Amino acid sequence: MKVLVIGSGGREHAICKKLAESKLVKELYCAPGNAGIKECAILVPIGVMEFEKIASFSKDNDINLVFVAPDNPLADGLVNFLEEKGINAFGPRKEAAIIEGSKAFSKAFMKRHNIPTALYEEFDSYENAKKYILKINKYPIVIKADGLAYGKGVIICETEKDAINALQEMMNSKVFGDAGSKVIIEEFLEGKEVTVLAFTDGKTVIPMPSSQDHKKAFDGDKGLNTGGMGAFSPATGYTSAAEKETIERIINPTIKGLFEEGRMFKGVIYFGLMVTKDGVKVIEYNARFGDPETEAILPLLKTDLMEIVLAIQKGELDKIKVEFEDKASLCVIIASGTYPGKVVTGYPINITAKLSDDVILYHCGTAIKDGVLVSNGGRVLCLSAKADTIEEAREIVYKEIDKVKFEGSRYRTDIGVK
Ligand code: AMP
Ligand code: GLY
Repeated sequence: MKVLVIGSGGREHAICKKLAESKLVKELYCAPGNAGIKECAILVPIGVMEFEKIASFSKDNDINLVFVAPDNPLADGLVNFLEEKGINAFGPRKEAAIIEGSKAFSKAFMKRHNIPTALYEEFDSYENAKKYILKINKYPIVIKADGLAYGKGVIICETEKDAINALQEMMNSKVFGDAGSKVIIEEFLEGKEVTVLAFTDGKTVIPMPSSQDHKKAFDGDKGLNTGGMGAFSPATGYTSAAEKETIERIINPTIKGLFEEGRMFKGVIYFGLMVTKDGVKVIEYNARFGDPETEAILPLLKTDLMEIVLAIQKGELDKIKVEFEDKASLCVIIASGTYPGKVVTGYPINITAKLSDDVILYHCGTAIKDGVLVSNGGRVLCLSAKADTIEEAREIVYKEIDKVKFEGSRYRTDIGVK
């Protein structure tokens, strides 16, 4: 098959690497990709939101399948768009991807289907939201932009002043654009955070090993939320009791609820969970592989990824066996110095010594400029390793990580410690 992957991050590098290993994939393309993806796929200079160009390229090059990995094109209906043109695409359609694209939708969906989540209120007027905040006397509270905001649209507010500021930024200053026209204000959940990714064809669901992301920019969970600074698998808080509860009360009702509402979800669904003392609750849904969770999870996948993709498309996920290595894994993001703020790109990346064969260096935001590998984003690289335990995987990654550097580069030193 000829496959085109849409996206350009570490997640897409991990997906491309797996697809390149598939015996079912003859030619692999990635749009727009990055300098690391170039090692396993042919790069196509088309942006992820250039729907017409993606369709023309696919037609002109007889692409058999377009794998849509990132949130924005999924939420905006790239899969629908391609299908309407007779092009085979992998990922949820817009009607299903809305569980990520609108937090207001996903919260109301969970309410309709009795799926446990934080209590919340929704506002599209700054004045009403402010009035509500002035009545709250229990902090912290969580304020979320309704729409997509590159993983940065959630603010945990410790005081009333923080909350009013956050509202002001989202609703009046529009720091997240239209994504912040509507906000969700919800209770703060205490517990252990867990990510569960699952393959689903809309009826059958196969959860992948659990993982845990580290969203905050700095060690000790300090600083602003980022897209994710590192991840490990399996998640420590995900006991077998929590897993059972999650499948029964969250995963199965979500897939069934979407199906019943005519929003059949085909692809990879992401459950962001909090294991609290009152049970497991949903923090968020995503309609895709997580980043950087994918860089920790996919190296463990034993089954041919393309075989799974095809089974999902045919609605035959119940007919195949999906296997993962029974191991731990861990990955650490190497970011630009000022990420998640505004970053300067174009710094040459130095790999000062040969990396051990025990690690995989995924590229998240890199490019080749005048023949030189340079940084090209906030999250630039991701170093991943698997081992028998999380501690061992951690040791391997941190032993190697200082071999990879660029001006101002930085990483968290405590991934997998807590
Ligand atoms: P989200 O983009 O919705 O995943 O939120 C980003 C991060 O904010 C999550 O990964 C959590 O660490 C945190 N968060 C979001 N909602 C809540 C909540 N209700 N209670 C506690 N933490 C939350
Ligand atoms: N790692 C969080 C996300 O992919 O949204």
